[in-house]
Amino acid sequence: MTFGAGPRGPGVLLIEPMGNAGRFLVEAADRLGVCLYAATHEDVHDGYPDWLRAALSGVCTTDLTDTPRALGDMEAFCRRHAVAGIAACFELFTPLAALLAARVGLPGNDPRLAHAPRNKILMGRAFATAGIPAPRWAVAHDAAEARRVARAGPDGLGWPLVVKPAEQGGSWGVSVLDGPDRLADAVAAAQRYTHAHPHGLELDTRVLLQEYIPGEEYSCDTVVAGGVAHPMPVVRKDTTEGPYRIETGHTCPSGLPAPLAEAVRRTAARAALAVGVRNGIAHTEVKIPPGARTPYVIETGARLPGDNLCEVVEAATGVSEAVAHLQAVLGLVPDTAPSRTDAVSIRFLLPARGGVLRRVDIPDLPGTHSEVHLRPGDAVPDPVDSACRVGHVVARAATADEARGLADRVAARSRVEVG
Ligand SMILES: Nc1ncnc2c1ncn2[C@@H]1O[C@H](COP(=O)(O)OP(=O)(O)OP(=O)(O)O)[C@@H](O)[C@H]1O
Ligand SMILES: [Mg+2]
Repeated sequence: MTFGAGPRGPGVLLIEPMGNAGRFLVEAADRLGVCLYAATHEDVHDGYPDWLRAALSGVCTTDLTDTPRALGDMEAFCRRHAVAGIAACFELFTPLAALLAARVGLPGNDPRLAHAPRNKILMGRAFATAGIPAPRWAVAHDAAEARRVARAGPDGLGWPLVVKPAEQGGSWGVSVLDGPDRLADAVAAAQRYTHAHPHGLELDTRVLLQEYIPGEEYSCDTVVAGGVAHPMPVVRKDTTEGPYRIETGHTCPSGLPAPLAEAVRRTAARAALAVGVRNGIAHTEVKIPPGARTPYVIETGARLPGDNLCEVVEAATGVSEAVAHLQAVLGLVPDTAPSRTDAVSIRFLLPARGGVLRRVDIPDLPGTHSEVHLRPGDAVPDPVDSACRVGHVVARAATADEARGLADRVAARSRVEVG
């Protein structure tokens, strides 16, 4: 079924805009005078918030889990509405976006590598082919195979060992193990999700085992237009320690010395190109072992970053990654030159344990603003992945250390009560 207002200007088809960068794309389209269309499922569309419905000029309802049908429906929709650009707004649909762009002759990513930014096994192969520094890895189908692969020694990956699903996000099912005791549980956790909510897309349930890379973690986005990479600023990423690594915050600028920041930008750009990003944005995460000068790539997604990073990067640099992304998918030169040098930090509020949310208090300090994600009475998941976030605070200051310190102070004075 298709409905909507029809073409009014350049239009971009978003393959599932209910991803967490959707609202940044809506704002960006408004600024650029671009109209937005959505490709989604009828029942998922029924649950769209009002602001998203109001932003759409038309909707292509299809079955995104059925690739031939979805490509056929979306191709017909693109032709009917003179769509000029395709963007995935949900990591699992980045392959569909690449395949559709190639089919209708619009700027897009390399269709031969369409699945590499979604599937971490194909990603590992693409990184190896391109010589990108990345953790050593192996695939396991079950716990027994994982045990064989993980054994310590020159041929094994050793400990600590990272166990993760081949296809997933939000740190769901990712464990860092110090030894073999919990290996079977970690493999089961990585294989727990066979289909992705809310579309029911089937997931690759193979398990990826990775060598553990110690050190600080950073992310860096790359806007690629016509195959030319435009690296964005480096962002420092904070996570929990221990078996479950949940993002606790991000700070821009990163505080890295200039040569190391440049190495991260270069490596992130190479990683984006290695997984076939040619027109659009890529979000790359890296770790730098203590004392090393080489960033190791943990992963690259062919999508805007989540975690409100669009807000953080724009507040710090003046660059809208969402605007640049839309420009790139429309075949335009993206605006990526920074217009300011502020420092901005976001900090997520996590519960000490799962339960029912009783109360959240976030103090209002000058230079900060905050948002609560859940309401009293809502279920709070156990703090094993990013689904447990209760809220966040954003702090702005003159330096990265000050912004991070301010966000940390607000978080330390906040109260999250779970019953
Ligand atoms: N090989 C590794 N070495 C060290 N730490 C790792 C490794 N792999 C993952 N991690 C840690 O676990 C986190 C989550 O892993 P990863 O990014 O692969 O999963 P994800 O589900 O795609 O996460 P997200 O969507 O939250 O970025 C990383 O940000 C990092 O802190
Ligand atoms: Mg990640």
